[in-house]
Amino acid sequence: MAKQKPKKPRQPPTTRPHIPQRPPTEQHDRLRDREQSKPARFSSFDDGSEDAMRRLQRKLAAEEATKAKLAERLSFPRLLTWWASKAIAARKAKAPAGMSPSYPDIKIPKEWPSLHLPAGELEREKGPRLSRTLYWWLYPPGEPVPQKPQPTPLRPPQKYPNMGLDTDRPPAPTLAQKAKRARGWYWIAGIGVYAMSSYGVYLYLQYNKAARIQADNEREYALGLKRRPVVDTHAVYENISEKYDSSVRFSEWCLGMPLLRRWMLWGLQGDVLEVSAGTGRNNPYYNVDSCSSITMVDNSSNMLEIAKNEFERRYPYYGRISFLAQDASKPISSPSGEGFDRVIQTMGLCSQESPVDTLRNLERQCKPEGRILLLEHGRSHYNWLNRILDAYVLDHARNWGCFWNRDIGKLLEESGLVVTSISRFHLGTTWLIEASPRAREMRDETAEPSSVAVPQDCAERKKKEGSEMDSAPLLR
Ligand SMILES: C[S@@+](CC[C@H](N)C(=O)[O-])C[C@H]1O[C@@H](n2cnc3c(N)ncnc32)[C@H](O)[C@@H]1O
Repeated sequence: MAKQKPKKPRQPPTTRPHIPQRPPTEQHDRLRDREQSKPARFSSFDDGSEDAMRRLQRKLAAEEATKAKLAERLSFPRLLTWWASKAIAARKAKAPAGMSPSYPDIKIPKEWPSLHLPAGELEREKGPRLSRTLYWWLYPPGEPVPQKPQPTPLRPPQKYPNMGLDTDRPPAPTLAQKAKRARGWYWIAGIGVYAMSSYGVYLYLQYNKAARIQADNEREYALGLKRRPVVDTHAVYENISEKYDSSVRFSEWCLGMPLLRRWMLWGLQGDVLEVSAGTGRNNPYYNVDSCSSITMVDNSSNMLEIAKNEFERRYPYYGRISFLAQDASKPISSPSGEGFDRVIQTMGLCSQESPVDTLRNLERQCKPEGRILLLEHGRSHYNWLNRILDAYVLDHARNWGCFWNRDIGKLLEESGLVVTSISRFHLGTTWLIEASPRAREMRDETAEPSSVAVPQDCAERKKKEGSEMDSAPLLR
């Protein structure tokens, strides 16, 4: 007889399943370390109980699941596919019935559960911007939308479709209806026209007043009853140097002056002299590499200081530059001692006390084969505009040191320069001039000084500062 094994006594059923002790893993160690680093009263780990073990396992499982979910959601290709499918579905919904847009369906695999989120949830999470960008990338605004083919009309189109025969369309609005709809716009336009015309009338009255005063004054100067008022442009420029650039920048830009400046300075070479350089508004247009030397002259040292700082900031490596604070009508020393190849001036004649003397001096400073380039402003082709310039010249000169009604053509004629080309812009007020010096023997060195009167208090100031100005302080 086979020996029967003694039967094991039956265990009473346990209420909780037995959980065997797990061998420690790296993760286990990590979690334990983390738990143990907490204050003792919060520690829920390794108190030896089964409960603690179960808690730990639940925690591990939850952490793993969160990580997997996050990794899945943040996967960029999946997001892209999801958005593409949404966008295409939206496009399809908008497409005219019976037309299939030329975009393929994008099927989202079932095993990407997080991409089947309720509508709007993913956008909320990741932000709608990318979704919009993608939409516009897929469907650029200018893309033609396929048109639904029109059914052939059963009857020829009506000649007068809104005479009651064509019942498909609503009747065209009457003129009264149109007027009623546009009432808001009429109000806005009306107020605009009223404001503009009021301002026009105001300007016209102001202009008339200024012109009358100017005419009376001119009569009195001619009769010797009154002395011509004097504007010391030197003092004006010393005062406005700080705000000069910011004040003229916008109007110059509107008039396209940067283009004219660039045009004028294009291809400058050799020894270059710029007179009335001001704050260096021409600095950006110099091709310094082709200039053997540059000399900038202005009688306002404040203006010239700004030009100097700007030039050094723009071309820190260029050393053949000098800045002379002196009158442009006085002799100017050139680096070679033989004169300059190119002499330029922009917006200078309007503010000089004796512009003809300056032009004659520029001729003297220029080499015989050199060129004189001027960009100036003055009287216009049109009398109506000249009358406005005349009426406001004093106010403008007091504020900006600029006599804007000078006849540039007449000044050139008086100077005797050989003008090779003149172009005029802005109703003839802007002059772009190219000239050459006359042969030395043709020049009349004893010519009378300019017919533009030197204002009296300027003459007095010059007398006082005479020695200082003539010595031409060299800023660099
Ligand atoms: C209207 S600003 C022109 C500045 C600059 N050329 C431009 O295009 O913006 C006139 C400049 O001419 C200068 N100026 C006036 N009379 C001068 C003279 N006799 N000699 C040298 N510069 C003079 C003024 O100081 C001022 O900087």
